[in-house]
Amino acid sequence: TLAFLRGKYIGTASEAVNIQNATSFGKAYGALATSLEFGIYTNENNLKWEVTEPQPGVFNFTPAEKLFAIAEKTGKRMRGHTLAWHSQLAPWVEASNFTADELKAVLKRHILTEVGHFRGRVYAWDVVNEAFNDDGTFRESVWFTTLGEEYIELAFRWARQADPHAKLYINDFNFESISPKTDAAVALIKKLKAKGVPIDGVGAQSHLIVGSVPTDFKAALQRFADLGVDVALTELDIRGDLPETPEKLQQQAKDFRTAIDACLGVKRCVGVTLWQFTDALSWIPGVFPTQGFGTPLSDKLQKKPAYTAIRDAL
Ligand code: XIL
Repeated sequence: TLAFLRGKYIGTASEAVNIQNATSFGKAYGALATSLEFGIYTNENNLKWEVTEPQPGVFNFTPAEKLFAIAEKTGKRMRGHTLAWHSQLAPWVEASNFTADELKAVLKRHILTEVGHFRGRVYAWDVVNEAFNDDGTFRESVWFTTLGEEYIELAFRWARQADPHAKLYINDFNFESISPKTDAAVALIKKLKAKGVPIDGVGAQSHLIVGSVPTDFKAALQRFADLGVDVALTELDIRGDLPETPEKLQQQAKDFRTAIDACLGVKRCVGVTLWQFTDALSWIPGVFPTQGFGTPLSDKLQKKPAYTAIRDAL
């Protein structure tokens, strides 16, 4: 089992529809998802704005709640993903051409309602997701273009107000190496901390590529941790170019080991979440058509070398 070893958690992204699927695959998947392999879940999609506030002021937490119920029954914690993000946003937010004051009120209502709804039941929220471009400038999301950098500070303050117990994270991809992007993130976190903004953690999504895991992964995590925040690998998968071969699976196993070791090597790294744990349910083939096999279990739920590598690391 993988769930809690050396004081860190192993988790997975999933949804109740995956875990409660009545097919023979679904039953086997559900047994693994609810087993002691995992100590924490993240809703893969059901806490995103397009699901939780599809119309202004109309909230729907029903699909997300189903995964919370499974977590509560099987002794898992939850990560909440995500609040201020440019993607999977309800179309009305951008279509309404809100003024800054209006958009602030929209973001405030969203965060207070969603975080407040789950108050006391979420270990950590990804408050702000993918705020940066790779060159370290801010992404030109509706949040940034309308509100400027201040939206980040406001989002964290409202999240804290709605749930004082949840850890509040900034989350992004390409946070796994020292780069202009992570230089900018470090500078932002220093600034936020100096202003008393309640930020508790940095999530490195860790959507990585077989054979190209950053060699400074651990150093990048340590640099964040040295700012006085927790760090976590929040969406780990390691995809490769198709076709899948035994050699690529061996390299992938080494790469998973490198990723897990990066977390194990940093005292303030609290854990690792897999972005689904079987290739059958991975988002990779849908988004990167020439790539696949990004998770530790095959599409038939067989353990790949990566599974053994993760287990051996712990
Ligand atoms: C992905 C989901 O896995 C897919 O099912 C969905 O179609 C698109 O989003 N970064 C994130 C995650 O923060 O929310 C994304 O999840 C993957 C990239």
